[in-house]
Amino acid sequence: MLVLPLTPTDPRWVDVALSDLDAVHRDHLHCERKAAQSALSLVRSYPEREHVVAAVARLAHEETAHVVQVSQLLARRGTAPTYDLGDDYAAALREHVRKREPERLLDRLLVFALIEARSAERLALLAAAIPDEATAHLYAGLASAEVRHRDTFLELAAEVAPDGWEARAAELAAHESALVAALPLRPRIH
Ligand SMILES: [Fe+2]
Ligand SMILES: [Fe+2]
Repeated sequence: MLVLPLTPTDPRWVDVALSDLDAVHRDHLHCERKAAQSALSLVRSYPEREHVVAAVARLAHEETAHVVQVSQLLARRGTAPTYDLGDDYAAALREHVRKREPERLLDRLLVFALIEARSAERLALLAAAIPDEATAHLYAGLASAEVRHRDTFLELAAEVAPDGWEARAAELAAHESALVAALPLRPRIH
């Protein structure tokens, strides 16, 4: 099994999220959309890497299904979707992606793995804390999908850089931990 170190989310985040679940769901809709778009961006950049294309296209397909599920959740709750508030978390992580290939591909795969890992962790926290059973069930299912996605990106990273991926994953995970510690606790996924 490929391991990605992740520092646990501040437990107070759950209370912040529960205090405005509609805001969390509205943000979550765009997280799923951006996950699909990020996966497809790898198809644009690396069309010659057959294995990468096949894996991320399947993953994007699942993320698109998640967009449908979260939009149905918003509709069920009578919550009007909003425009994307932006994502300083993902933007800050992308700053660590190196410009030169093949380092660039490795870094993009690892940054996506970290975002999937953090999302999975927080969706699981929500699944355990949300009182409404149907919503909690939805979040538990989404959390396990994002764990699989993390592993997909890690497997691709290990294929791209069999000798260097682990050390780079640890570096980027340290940046991610520092970033999460610096960001305010807010009713968003990140
Ligand atoms: Fe997803
Ligand atoms: Fe995902």
